Amino acid sequence: MIDVWHDCDPGHDDAIALMYCLSEPKINLVGISTVHGNQLSYKTFKNAIRVLYITGQISKLEKIKVISGANKPIKRKSQICEEIHGDSGLGGIDWKDIDSKIEALGINLKEGEKQNIENVVDGIHNAYKNSKNGKLTILVTGCHTNIAAYAQKYPEDIKSGNINVVAMGGSIDTYGNTSPWAEFNIQIDPEAFSIVLNAFQTEDKRSLVTLIPLDVTHTVLSTPEVIKKLDENNKFENLIIKLLYFFKETYQNVFGFPSPPVHDPVAAYYIVHPEDFEVKHEQAVVETEGKYTSGSICINRYPKISNWCDKNELKEIDICRKVNVDKFWDSIIDHLHILAKNSPL
Ligand code: BDR
Ligand code: CA
Repeated sequence: MIDVWHDCDPGHDDAIALMYCLSEPKINLVGISTVHGNQLSYKTFKNAIRVLYITGQISKLEKIKVISGANKPIKRKSQICEEIHGDSGLGGIDWKDIDSKIEALGINLKEGEKQNIENVVDGIHNAYKNSKNGKLTILVTGCHTNIAAYAQKYPEDIKSGNINVVAMGGSIDTYGNTSPWAEFNIQIDPEAFSIVLNAFQTEDKRSLVTLIPLDVTHTVLSTPEVIKKLDENNKFENLIIKLLYFFKETYQNVFGFPSPPVHDPVAAYYIVHPEDFEVKHEQAVVETEGKYTSGSICINRYPKISNWCDKNELKEIDICRKVNVDKFWDSIIDHLHILAKNSPL
């Protein structure tokens, strides 16, 4: 079993990544934290709880918590992605009835209004300390504000070399999505990702950070053929179809994609199936100064002539370049079918 902490900003694709973690037998989900990003952080918190409810996993709240973390980047203005994820962050569904059912269980959906990044940071630390095999994977499917705070408070955890970060983010050989060269999760808080990358380093130059960039996630599209594999007569699967249709429409309007890339579950899938990816070990630095380019990941493409930066700034990182798309979707659909059996909808 792999102990996984999921830090996320649900978000349509975060929701599916979380569903994958909740239903994957090889993953022991030890904590969930939410962050600003696709929507304001009190909304992303609500959405994480909604995911637990609709998947029939709300009882997990007795064992693990959903903790509402940072509500803004380290030093920049907040940005949200309402044009893609809607006002609730999980657009396409009227959540009223579901929310009443959640509240009837005594769960306070408004708790996420009291953001507490310290609780996230201490939560991750405790999860690592309590891990049975002494290892922890932090899955990051939003920006890195929470994880940067963790790295700053508990550097000795990271020095052990037993905690690794798997993150959806970046664009390497392709352009960015929310700015010409940067991908949203890195672009909205590049200082945070820079702190994380600098902190998660080892003396033997192993990579503790794996990035699943747009180069990979833009190949993983939720096409009509994929959606057809879900059962529209099953209430849970029908809800997923509605979410995917909303996502399809916004992606079409904003980016002109005929079918939307479902980014975040690819990072969750990587944790269990790294063999289905092509990965390259690189040295990289995060651009935090550029007026138009901050948030881009600059890799050392030509090491023999690398005088474009101070070599000490370059950090070890694994970057995925390809995934087996068919295997990915087969696995995601299987996981959704399993969750459908337990859903209270
Ligand atoms: C990333 O940004 C968010 O909108 C998605 O949830 C994903 O994590 C893609 O750039
Ligand atoms: Ca996300």
